[in-house]
Amino acid sequence: MRAVVIEEFGDPSGMAVIEAPSPLPAPGQVVIKTEAIGVGGVDAVIRRGTLGGFGFSKGLIPGSEIAGIVTAVGAGGDESWVGRRVWAFTGTGGGYVEQAVAGIDDIVVLPVGLSSIDAVTLGSSATVAHFALVHAHFASGESVLVRGAAGSIGIATVELAARAGASAVAVTTSSPERGRRLRDLGATHVLDRAGEGDPAAPKTFDVIIDIVGGAGLPAFIDRLAPNGRLVVVGVVAGLPPADFGMRLMGAFQQSRSIATFSLNTVAASATAAVRAEQFLAAVRGELHAVVHEVLPLELAAEAHRQMDLGHVFGRIVLTP
Ligand SMILES: NC(=O)c1ccc[n+]([C@@H]2O[C@H](COP(=O)([O-])OP(=O)(O)OC[C@H]3O[C@@H](n4cnc5c(N)ncnc54)[C@H](OP(=O)(O)O)[C@@H]3O)[C@@H](O)[C@H]2O)c1
Repeated sequence: MRAVVIEEFGDPSGMAVIEAPSPLPAPGQVVIKTEAIGVGGVDAVIRRGTLGGFGFSKGLIPGSEIAGIVTAVGAGGDESWVGRRVWAFTGTGGGYVEQAVAGIDDIVVLPVGLSSIDAVTLGSSATVAHFALVHAHFASGESVLVRGAAGSIGIATVELAARAGASAVAVTTSSPERGRRLRDLGATHVLDRAGEGDPAAPKTFDVIIDIVGGAGLPAFIDRLAPNGRLVVVGVVAGLPPADFGMRLMGAFQQSRSIATFSLNTVAASATAAVRAEQFLAAVRGELHAVVHEVLPLELAAEAHRQMDLGHVFGRIVLTP
């Protein structure tokens, strides 16, 4: 089968399409013939080498979510899975392939009416958004700022916060056009990447969901209201400066909090239940899969180039 590997970390040209052996499922696993493969921001972060300290090594097949048809079940597994269309989490890699392997606990049946392309656009992003808001103890009536809202996690956070009754949903984004699209999805205030640009926006927020990190993170700690909570969900701009926590200490009397959030800390059963519910919400039109472009698997490096150039609104999807 064809697979995409990272031969060199850094530039997208370090990715190559290779022939790899077709996988066999171990007990507790299934093999899925892929129909759609999500190109996540995390794939780009890993490929750039930003997470070099986290044990990723050359030869890694990127991609963490796919959708397609189950073709085989590991020994002792429930054979009735064969033939079903599912969404699957493949881990921090393993997705950019024609035949993917996933644990039985990491697959969710797609409801009628949801395409594989839409499933891999929402499947991981919308659950990250949901549980990040839970982690931030977001409550209806509170104000929310989504930093880095133009990616698939940010878009889902905007939609979920708006639907859950946020008093304001501000976003940071790099262009007015993106701002307009985010308003259509529920944003009430559009800010530039520095968090400026709308005098009517709240000065501070009860909750900030930060997908960007990087050098700009400390300034956003100042945008937390008293008792406000900033949850770092992603690091698309890299890690923040080592002393960023001093910003919190400097505003001690504001009782602000910073947390990280990873979906890895949520029980698979809880994630699956929320994901299945979100897929149904998408079929009902209450949650939107924003697909930037669909490209063939061979053009994975091109997809990553577009990610690096900042051209992607929502998510690129690969098809084998
Ligand atoms: N916590 C978890 O469980 C979990 C799970 C999966 C992924 N992740 C993380 O989430 C991140 C990817 O999320 P995603 O796919 O939604 O993001 P993304 O599409 O890669 O980026 C989101 C947006 O951030 C903005 N941005 C990019 N560079 C920036 C910069 N230097 N300064 C300010 N804004 C910048 C861009 O929008 P504008 O150009 O409009 O500003 C971009 O569209 C990765 O860091 C990944 O590791 C976390």
